[in-house]
Amino acid sequence: MRVEVCTSTGTYPIIFEQGGLGKASEYFNLNRKALVVTDTGVPESYAQSLLSMCKEGALFTLPQGEEAKSLHYFEQLQLAMLNRSFTRKDCVVAVGGGVVGDAAGFAAACYMRGIDFYNVPTTVLSQVDSSIGGKTAVNLQGVKNIVGCFYPPKGVLIDSELLQTLPKRQMNNGYAEIIKIALTRDASLFEMLENSPPFARIEEAVRQAVLLKQEVVERDEREESLRKVLNFGHTLGHGIEAIQGQEGLYHGECVALGMLPMCAPEVRVRLNKALKKYGLPTQIKVDKQAVIDKVMHDKKREGDAITVVYCGEVGRFSFEQRTEEQLTDALYILEVGS
Ligand SMILES: NC(=O)c1ccc[n+]([C@@H]2O[C@H](COP(=O)([O-])OP(=O)(O)OC[C@H]3O[C@@H](n4cnc5c(N)ncnc54)[C@H](O)[C@@H]3O)[C@@H](O)[C@H]2O)c1
Repeated sequence: MRVEVCTSTGTYPIIFEQGGLGKASEYFNLNRKALVVTDTGVPESYAQSLLSMCKEGALFTLPQGEEAKSLHYFEQLQLAMLNRSFTRKDCVVAVGGGVVGDAAGFAAACYMRGIDFYNVPTTVLSQVDSSIGGKTAVNLQGVKNIVGCFYPPKGVLIDSELLQTLPKRQMNNGYAEIIKIALTRDASLFEMLENSPPFARIEEAVRQAVLLKQEVVERDEREESLRKVLNFGHTLGHGIEAIQGQEGLYHGECVALGMLPMCAPEVRVRLNKALKKYGLPTQIKVDKQAVIDKVMHDKKREGDAITVVYCGEVGRFSFEQRTEEQLTDALYILEVGS
């Protein structure tokens, strides 16, 4: 299956194909120089398979984790292209999760003011979320995604076979984003997640989540209005993530927790069950004031209140204002469980 995403600068295809990695050259123009970017945690055979299809490929392996999204590795990626005399006609291909996609995409966006960028996302999170929508970025002094730009890829290849090697916890982590978009945008997808055995219909769930994200980013490419719905669970989630440190909860796990207080009670009951089913946390003891301090310094702050995404009914959402006090109260839900 192939869908075209419309952007302000053109369109790009998302190709869904089980085993599609081995046929990437049918979808991407690899008949030129290509910098294939991966990280040390992604099975090497994936990047090697891509590399074998390139006319003149070079491999760049980043360390795994957020440290790869840095200006240091950004410079190394630029040098890797410069030293091989890449021109504007050459390309970058990411083979990895959101870290690789964000770092490689930003490097492609900047080299010679932008060369073609292809993405082969290899985690659930990157397949349903980070590879779609053209956001690229690196981190600076611990501030996530602060240096970056919108740079749509030339193509995205979603191959469900690549998820077979993904550790279980990373799988769960990505499902938080599927649950997020289903809960706010598509009641029938949420029902499918509730009613099918866990992870049984992963291809379908990923495809549906991608199509939902596609619709959102096409309607609001630059996150001026509707795209903010994708921040559901992220306001408190980011606050929890920020105080956890490196060894704490994964991003999706924090989003899972962040969604719970932002739902109507009857929605929360269903969400709570779904999160447990997909191995995601529903309860945590946190320093509420520390979380709220982080949240109130968040970029979404407007005056004394913060705009949050609220789910009053499965499949629907609204933007609402919450004060510091209301957000602190909401965190109690995570202490007692729901
Ligand atoms: N650009 C966007 O719109 C956007 C949206 C959401 C998140 N993000 C970014 O995405 C990043 C998180 O992405 P992620 O959750 O994919 O994490 P990740 O890229 O760090 O990957 C998680 C881990 O899984 C390993 N891995 C990847 N694919 C694998 C596979 N198929 N088999 C075995 N191991 C594999 C990686 O090496 C890594 O250790 C964050 O930096 C976040 O800021 C970006």
